[in-house]
Amino acid sequence: MDKILVTRKIPDKFVQQLQQLGEVQMWNEEFEPMPREQFLKEIEESTACFITLSEKIDEECLKHAEHLKIIANLAVGYDNIDVDSATKHDIDVTNTPNVLTETTAELGFTLMLTVARRIIEAEHYVQEGNWKSWGPYLLSGKDVHGSTVGIYGMGEIGKSFARRLQGFNTEILYHNRSRHEDAEQQLNAQYVSFDDLLERSDFVVCTAPLTSETADKFNATAFSKMKNDAIFINIGRGAIVDEEALIEALEHHQIGGCGLDVLREEPIRFDHPLLKMNNAVILPHIGSASVVTRDRMIQLCVDNIKAILQGEQPLTQVHN
Ligand code: DGY
Repeated sequence: MDKILVTRKIPDKFVQQLQQLGEVQMWNEEFEPMPREQFLKEIEESTACFITLSEKIDEECLKHAEHLKIIANLAVGYDNIDVDSATKHDIDVTNTPNVLTETTAELGFTLMLTVARRIIEAEHYVQEGNWKSWGPYLLSGKDVHGSTVGIYGMGEIGKSFARRLQGFNTEILYHNRSRHEDAEQQLNAQYVSFDDLLERSDFVVCTAPLTSETADKFNATAFSKMKNDAIFINIGRGAIVDEEALIEALEHHQIGGCGLDVLREEPIRFDHPLLKMNNAVILPHIGSASVVTRDRMIQLCVDNIKAILQGEQPLTQVHN
């Protein structure tokens, strides 16, 4: 009988579907990852593996996974997986594209508006009893309408973000590995060099995946080129940003603020300097976290596992 390893607690309705396919071994915690040692042990016996971003899939774990046919990653980004190594071992890797696009772009947009209009500071101000009177510049922030927004990474999420800007009368710039003429025509987005994007944008929004090309792309040099009141938003991956450089840039007012849904180390340390900065809004990687979208992502993982175990093509296979 096929063994299906699920590394995080998922709702019964999905477990039941997997039970139709094989014996399910599920880690019963929703908010804590399966310890690595246990994972390495369980994967040895598994035919299919349903994982989250917390699991690192490398040669160390694949070399013992003799029966494994599929790794279904509960995310569109798959930088946690050594895809070349999986391919070498004849293991299919799948992800969850498309179903999360709109929800993730929506979170990015929320984050941009939140930082621009200082919503978290304003809420704390009220909660802490500081609101004594209306003031001409009380907690005044930055307009998104009429501004220039630079999108780094014009994949599906980048395009979805640009669609949301259409009602805001913004100039849209983008930088991407390759040009997207559809986005240029339909969304009136202008392709620019990375430096141009940094220099001209009031908001710089990173939606890119983590690759060898994007790692540490937002470093001290990049921040030094941005406008002094620019706001940096990251909904891609934490390792695209040099966080030390970002902290310096915020401290020295080289940029105006940031909103990060993704961090180099997740979860972030409670004493991390970014958590002490008023002009930084930090979220716990919730880009795709609406109930409907998470249901769709889990269903897609289940469907991919089902396809592979039934000898069919997976729906959303990852290729390097
Ligand atoms: C993804 O899908 O890559 C997100 O970051 C996790 O929701």
